[in-house]
Amino acid sequence: MKTLSTQVVIVGAGPSGLLLGALLHKAGIDHIIVERQSGDYVLSRIRAGVLEQGTTDLLDYAGVGKRLHAEGLRHDAFALIFKGAFHRIDIAKRHNGRHMTVYGQTEVTRDLMDHRMQLGLETVYSVGDTVVLHDFDSEHPRVTFTKDGEACEIKARFIAGCDGYHGVCRASVPAGSIQNFEKVYPFGWLGVLSETPPVYHEVTYSNTERGFALSSLRSMTRSRYYIQCGIDEKVESWSDDRFWDEFKKRIDPDAAKRLVTGPSIEKSIAPLRSFVAEPMRFGSMFLAGDAAHIVPPTGAKGLNLAAGDVNVLSKAIIEYYQEQSKAGIDHYSARCLRRVWNAERFSWWFTSLMHKFPDTEGFGQKIQEAELDYLVNSESALHSITENYLGLAH
Ligand code: FAD
Ligand code: PHB
Repeated sequence: MKTLSTQVVIVGAGPSGLLLGALLHKAGIDHIIVERQSGDYVLSRIRAGVLEQGTTDLLDYAGVGKRLHAEGLRHDAFALIFKGAFHRIDIAKRHNGRHMTVYGQTEVTRDLMDHRMQLGLETVYSVGDTVVLHDFDSEHPRVTFTKDGEACEIKARFIAGCDGYHGVCRASVPAGSIQNFEKVYPFGWLGVLSETPPVYHEVTYSNTERGFALSSLRSMTRSRYYIQCGIDEKVESWSDDRFWDEFKKRIDPDAAKRLVTGPSIEKSIAPLRSFVAEPMRFGSMFLAGDAAHIVPPTGAKGLNLAAGDVNVLSKAIIEYYQEQSKAGIDHYSARCLRRVWNAERFSWWFTSLMHKFPDTEGFGQKIQEAELDYLVNSESALHSITENYLGLAH
């Protein structure tokens, strides 16, 4: 057996694991990342697009913000469509210029991977489902796995579970020590990426009698669109033509006329769920990002919550080593969960407001339209939705 030692072993090289690695390295703390998939596979997952200012600040601090500032798009507003009409919601003017940035998760991941390569930091890719956690109820946890047929072991002081919703870390906790809270929604999102100019220049959420739609972008020549679809639908049954026909019916009529369509370069269906595991710390093992919580993507909060966790966790581990204090690690879970539940509430509320629910047709649609009408005409409601969209401080 090949045996390595480090201070922190990070399971998962998604945005949470990579960003945690960058922050620990900056403070001089040793770590190794172990990832199930290959680097190319991780980069091929098209997911988040909207970053909060707290997230971009953290990426800057970690030393990976250069391309984000050159290529990311500053967004001062988003828009809502209901009853066929378009309403622009200005965020920046209500919150002293605070804004969002549109920059794909793929690009964040690429920047973090390039940074690791330049620094020569160790990432063990393609270990499949072989990772096993040991002794995390002690101060001497270990992770074992198999790489290219060779059995390996990493001894560490801490394990960071950054391995997403389907990962091994949360699954390794004894059932009696963890409580899961979950809500599964009766629909999914069908997402399409296409090399076409976006129909709106700002992220636009539509409530229609046919269901929800979202218009987003990655650049002024690359669109990212989503429509609400049935939970059991298969991506193969959605030809590009069928997608564009349906999408056009869920945006305002002027936009439908100017929509530029084209072949999809990625198409996938994501289920929607709200999920929180409590606590987020088990002895020497800490969960961060999607491993601990999932939000439906309507509020664009998932990646931003992950960045918030990693910020708190890196500070806690740094405090442990630099000040010989356990205060940060002892408060990690409670500190994160407060912010997480706030974002859970917002994401659940925004999802409930914008989607068509099977059991609330007719009456439910009218109530949603009344709430949206109130929202766009009430300065206090507008202040609240923009404050939540911007995200709470880490
Ligand atoms: P992941 O990205 O899931 O990474 C976990 C990593 O761990 C993966 O690389 C995985 O291969 C690896 N792993 C899993 N199991 C193991 C194992 N056993 N051993 C080793 N490695 C393992 N968020 C936003 O903030 N804004 C948005 O606009 C937004 N839009 C979204 C749109 C869609 C359609 C979806 C699906 C999500 C969206 N999100 C958004 C959410 C965001 O993508 C996630 O919250 C984010 O990916 C979480 O990062 P993570 O690193 O915690 O988890
Ligand atoms: C995206 O661009 O992928 C995106 C934007 C806003 C959301 C979710 C996803 O709420």
